Amino acid sequence: MGTTEIRKVGVVGLGTMGAGIAQVCVQAGVETVGREISAELGEKAREKIAHFLGRAVEKERMTAKERDAALGRLALTTEIADFADCDLVIEAAFEDIAVKHELFEALDATVREDAILATNTSALSVTQIAAASRKPERVVGMHFFNPAPLMPLVEIVRAQRTSEEVVDAAYAFAQRVGKEPIRCNDTPGFVVNRILIPLLNDCVRVLDEAGVSVEDLDKAMRFGAGWPMGPTALLDLVGIDVHVHASEAIWSGLREPRMAPPPRLKAMADAGLLGRKTGRGFFEYDD
Ligand code: CAA
Repeated sequence: MGTTEIRKVGVVGLGTMGAGIAQVCVQAGVETVGREISAELGEKAREKIAHFLGRAVEKERMTAKERDAALGRLALTTEIADFADCDLVIEAAFEDIAVKHELFEALDATVREDAILATNTSALSVTQIAAASRKPERVVGMHFFNPAPLMPLVEIVRAQRTSEEVVDAAYAFAQRVGKEPIRCNDTPGFVVNRILIPLLNDCVRVLDEAGVSVEDLDKAMRFGAGWPMGPTALLDLVGIDVHVHASEAIWSGLREPRMAPPPRLKAMADAGLLGRKTGRGFFEYDD
């Protein structure tokens, strides 16, 4: 297991993360099949990938021929059965343990014995997800960061029963597609979110405590701490709902008050002010 060369990759779920991961794979020359629950959602993801590759052509970072070849490597499906010949399947579906369990059972019944099953979860335990598989040794976390095509890091998460061979194969694959992987244990938030989520929560608390505007808070962290983007702009990019969910999951694992989402973020999530994807969060967007 895990020694097979990864020739074909499956991606389950083509939302922001899944579409980004599929883009990374096809750009790196890997045949990829992406699965969405409807053909329309699949097509929307393909259009998004085509848009970003088109921008790369406009900026002369890629030729039109390379873009067409990359898009040609992307197949779309609505059927899990189409993952039968994949060497690696990366799950990037909704962050709900019941959804993940159903998917991993279906994947288990579909893929070859030596295929690797990875999850891009950021909020759930990889060990708990792997428990739905008859072969938890082949289940590993591959946690990409948003936006996946731009962020170099991939956390390779070793769950309780993941084999070292599978960890190594996932690590090597991440390197092959141009990423900078690290290895870590399956603890709440892994490495980056364990640090970044309470930090972003603190930033939101400081908004009220320090009587600073949203714009000035972002300015403070960009120009005083060298962040590439301000904390509220980052929360809008990640999605307020995604952040609140991940924050609650880390809080339930560690029970440290800083891990819990501030009421202001929960209220935004309840009000549908989710950031870029709904056109309004801390800021307004028209794209
Ligand atoms: N999404 C966005 N842009 C993409 C893209 C994609 N999927 N694929 C390609 N691109 C291209 C765009 O087309 C764009 O070029 P154009 O403007 O010409 O169209 C280019 O990449 C990005 O250009 P920018 O000028 O916006 O790039 P930048 O230099 O400002 O950097 C950034 C953007 C990389 C997002 C940077 O601001 C950054 O590093 N921000 C921090 C992001 C971060 O911390 N992410 C982690 C979030 S936490 C997380 O993800 C964990 C979790 O589990 C929730």
